[in-house]
Amino acid sequence: MTNLTFRRPDDWHVHFRDGAVLQHVVPLTARQFARAIVMPNLAPPVTTAADAAAYRERILAALPPGVDFQPLMTCYLTDHTDASDLIAGFRDGIFTAAKLYPAHATTNSAHGVSSIDKIQAVLDAMAEFGMPLLVHGEITRREVDLFDREKYFIDEVLTPLLRRHPTLRVVMEHITTEDGAQVVASYPERMGATITPQHLLYNRNAMFEGGLRPHLYCLPVLKRRKHQLALRKAATSGLSNYFLGTDSAPHLRHLKEASCGCAGVFSAPVAIEAYLHVFAEENALDKFEAFASLNGPTFYKMAPNEERVTYTLTPGETVSNVKIDDAGELVSLFSGETPSWRALADALEPGK
Ligand code: NCD
Ligand code: ZN
Ligand code: ZN
Repeated sequence: MTNLTFRRPDDWHVHFRDGAVLQHVVPLTARQFARAIVMPNLAPPVTTAADAAAYRERILAALPPGVDFQPLMTCYLTDHTDASDLIAGFRDGIFTAAKLYPAHATTNSAHGVSSIDKIQAVLDAMAEFGMPLLVHGEITRREVDLFDREKYFIDEVLTPLLRRHPTLRVVMEHITTEDGAQVVASYPERMGATITPQHLLYNRNAMFEGGLRPHLYCLPVLKRRKHQLALRKAATSGLSNYFLGTDSAPHLRHLKEASCGCAGVFSAPVAIEAYLHVFAEENALDKFEAFASLNGPTFYKMAPNEERVTYTLTPGETVSNVKIDDAGELVSLFSGETPSWRALADALEPGK
């Protein structure tokens, strides 16, 4: 029997939504992770410290009794973000970071930033106070091929931004390409990157295997195999700039299985199992704790979690979908499959 014990991990990129979905998905993340960076792309988005404080309360209220979990809140940047509210929220411990969504790049990004020039003063203030900028790294110009959006973002937005704000600390969220992995490694003191389970497990072939697979459609979209391999190499490298961020992004089944389906892979029920599967395939289980439990806290200047959890290389139960009352259901990553890893019983009851 192969067991792996490691510090309780954190999820550095997750979507909880609101209302009934939030009630169902928060416990799933909280049973595996001690902390999570919560994305602000609600409708309407979380754009002020007051919004974030209220959203944080709704998340905490959805926790099962006795579960110890800390949501880390982010601010959705717009063309009109008030730098003083943002920095006050950061200094008061309400905001951990601010998120840049290029307008129309992804789910609920219509209020995103239309041009980086509009937020230069906000970025200056963030650099001054050490507040990290998290980016959805895709350009949205229509003439750019969808599969090249990340590379264009790096060249046209990210590189000039890093040059213009030489002390700003930046996380490129959900990197999907070799280019993404490389740019992060070339700014080792001030860049980090999250990597999702689906971008490690799959390449774009999987989206079309035997037919269209809407539950593997997310943004940035899965890329070709050479990029998948580059991400596997980055995640298992032990380099402290790469860390776990599931980008678990729940959308009800009927909104994904539609003529114009929503982007997002819902991985909260099986996130750790999915990452472990990849690290085992790469013979890199010795690098797992760094990726899942150490590198994120290092970037965010937080202490790693002290509790340990244990997972075992024994198939668990078949993964089922998550019913959302009468509204429908969420189709999980690995739905209907049996992951090769599972948590030992008390791994999911930290503190025991
Ligand atoms: C995310 C969502 O649904 O909120 N979707 C996705 O495909 N990743 C948004 C995002 O992280 O870009
Ligand atoms: Zn995104
Ligand atoms: Zn996301």
